[in-house]
Amino acid sequence: MPASRRGSGTITLPTGVTLNYHTRTNEEEDLPHATKKTMADHLRKFESLFTLTPQRMRMIVDAFTESLEIGLESSGQVVPMIPTFVFGWPSGHESGEYLALDLGGTNLRVCLVTLHGGGKFEITQSKYRLTEEQKHDDGQKLFDFCADCVKTFINSNLGDSEEMIKSGVKLPLGFTFSYPCSQERIDHGVLIRWTKGFSAPNTEGCDVAAMFREALEAQNVPVDLVALTCDTTGTLIASTYVNPKTKIAVIFGTGCNAAYMETIKEIPKLKGCGFADDTEIAINCEWGAFDSFQHEHLPRTKYDITVDESSNKPGEQAFEKLISGRYLGEILRLVICDLIDEGVLFLGQNTYKIEIPYSFDTAFLSLMESDPTDELLMIIGIFTHFFALETTLAERQFFRALAKLIGKRSARLSACGIAAIVNRKSLLEDGCSVGADGSLYNKYPGFADRVHEGLQDIFGDKGLNIVTHHAEDGSGIGSAIIAAMTKKRKETGLYPNY
Ligand code: BGC
Repeated sequence: MPASRRGSGTITLPTGVTLNYHTRTNEEEDLPHATKKTMADHLRKFESLFTLTPQRMRMIVDAFTESLEIGLESSGQVVPMIPTFVFGWPSGHESGEYLALDLGGTNLRVCLVTLHGGGKFEITQSKYRLTEEQKHDDGQKLFDFCADCVKTFINSNLGDSEEMIKSGVKLPLGFTFSYPCSQERIDHGVLIRWTKGFSAPNTEGCDVAAMFREALEAQNVPVDLVALTCDTTGTLIASTYVNPKTKIAVIFGTGCNAAYMETIKEIPKLKGCGFADDTEIAINCEWGAFDSFQHEHLPRTKYDITVDESSNKPGEQAFEKLISGRYLGEILRLVICDLIDEGVLFLGQNTYKIEIPYSFDTAFLSLMESDPTDELLMIIGIFTHFFALETTLAERQFFRALAKLIGKRSARLSACGIAAIVNRKSLLEDGCSVGADGSLYNKYPGFADRVHEGLQDIFGDKGLNIVTHHAEDGSGIGSAIIAAMTKKRKETGLYPNY
């Protein structure tokens, strides 16, 4: 312990805990701040930690492409490459009224979709925000809540559900359940693992379609669960319904994932199921799991490792944890906390608010990057309003630059995933459209441009042939189209047991 505690410094206690202190007299008016030069030095360090060179990206793409292949060979692989039993593309003529239930990362949505054919549709929907409690409470309760929401929606939009049950009317429904499920047929799905912070017990290893059906029956909801699908598969189908050039769908939101169409003869693990060799089937890659457990290919910083180890699923969703909206704010917060611990930032200020895990929303990164003012007033607002912290211009410039590094890395890694599917399907020469959705893709400034830049770094000029575009609502419209395709397929007797 120093004789005088005037000024600022760091003390390590015998327990190993580090304390930062700052003592001032009433003669000093200003709080101490890091100098411009200190912030510039730190920025250089983070630049080298978070920057992905084209060469490194190509190495990731090679490993990724191999993982996709391994996933198609046999079940239970790290990237599970799940056959979804959505056979082929929509014709665009699908029509009729369908319900869609969307259980994503943040909300529960019930939709009534009227497909008019010719790529036209109408949608009416209700949204319910999921509470943190519901994400961790017993799984059957979650599905009971889903059934309850569907029933309320039917009663207020379509008529008395009890009357429908009496007269034997059942409305076809597509259930978009955006968590990895292994499927034996389209109306079945065993949850492999929860992602995106969910942990509802008694659900992993169970057939979630059966759990939802049980809830529907118990509450007399006049619904026929036709298809269980995931947001990416829905996005693939919804995008091609309106833009037939779409060959890949990706979601960059709370979680991240991709889907594309594969031919049966290229899927060794489906040999012997009796499907014709040239039949096409949509694959839900569940690529968020790439490099999980072994951590051999992705460059993880110590902040990424902390995010992983302090999550409710350590080791899992390694790719997703570097990319998706659930984690980017947390990564930046951990860097800031590290600099607080080192005595670089916010000396003499009370930092307890920013020390709360997940208190730094990824939306703040978007706002910081898009702050149009010279003084970076938006960043002043974020730090004073949400964290009661004062910042200097040099610090704000540093935070903005840091957000850019983290956001850019996310987009460039996303490009690696897309490139792996492009390789797998040899789409580079002819090019293709990639339907993309999710809060990061839609709201993070420059995200799509950075993905495109990344694709050029990987493929050179030919990377320009791969273009992402904002996709149609896969979890609502896509789910309804999949329900329509499935009903028709079964009516025509094609693979009726799947
Ligand atoms: C889930 C995927 C989903 C993705 C985007 C991931 O965490 O495992 O099923 O498609 O998030 O919502």
